[in-house]
Amino acid sequence: MRKPIIAGNWKMNKTLAEAKEFTLAVKDAIPSKDVVDSVIGSPALFLAPMNCKRKDSELQLAAQNCFWENEGAYTGETSPAALADMGIEYVIIGHSERREYFHETDEEINKKAKAIFANGMTPILCCGETLETYEAGKTAEWIEGQITADLKDLSAEQVSSMVIAYEPIWAIGTGKSADANIADEICGVVRKTVEKLYGNEVAEKVRIQYGGSVKPENIAEYMAKENVDGALVGGASLQPDSFLALLSAVK
Ligand code: PGA
Repeated sequence: MRKPIIAGNWKMNKTLAEAKEFTLAVKDAIPSKDVVDSVIGSPALFLAPMNCKRKDSELQLAAQNCFWENEGAYTGETSPAALADMGIEYVIIGHSERREYFHETDEEINKKAKAIFANGMTPILCCGETLETYEAGKTAEWIEGQITADLKDLSAEQVSSMVIAYEPIWAIGTGKSADANIADEICGVVRKTVEKLYGNEVAEKVRIQYGGSVKPENIAEYMAKENVDGALVGGASLQPDSFLALLSAVK
């Protein structure tokens, strides 16, 4: 039985005051980590203050990106070692917005995954296809290619413990969520790819999220599916009530 994981992806939203206010508003209402992993991926700027404000809470934190080296002359980058030292648990990597606007490649994403593991954190690796690929019926092939490249040379133990988010690009921020059966089918493709690369035991352990216009009103449909172990949520994770409503749909 895989533990559900609901992760908010705030993207480039909120001010410091708003991030702190959110943390204080939700911190005592987060369900036990024994039941569900509840994560907020905030802008890197707010991780330290949110980390202070979440004290004694079950709320976990994610960075939305990091670099693959721990230190050095890399102006503007975020060190995975520094994130780990602060107590940050997860790092989101390979989000389609980073792949598109910042030209991140599978090779770079793979290096980031290794650095995140080396620092004792957990990657939330995103994959997903464009509308064009979806309409051409090439989603499975595309996803298999991304996952195979992104996981290159990771160990079975690492892959068992990580999180993979399937996010069709055409469903992100569009209000046009993928049908729950499609989400289940493609999350199944992710699991099959992991099985092909690492065997059945690892495929049974890896947690797979669906992401793309998930909200409190539709999350239960996704969570009811065999291959969906959680959700990566953008817009609907920004307000405390909505984030807590997402969590209460799974606990
Ligand atoms: P959305 O974003 O929930 O606003 O569609 C999801 C994501 O990009 O992770």
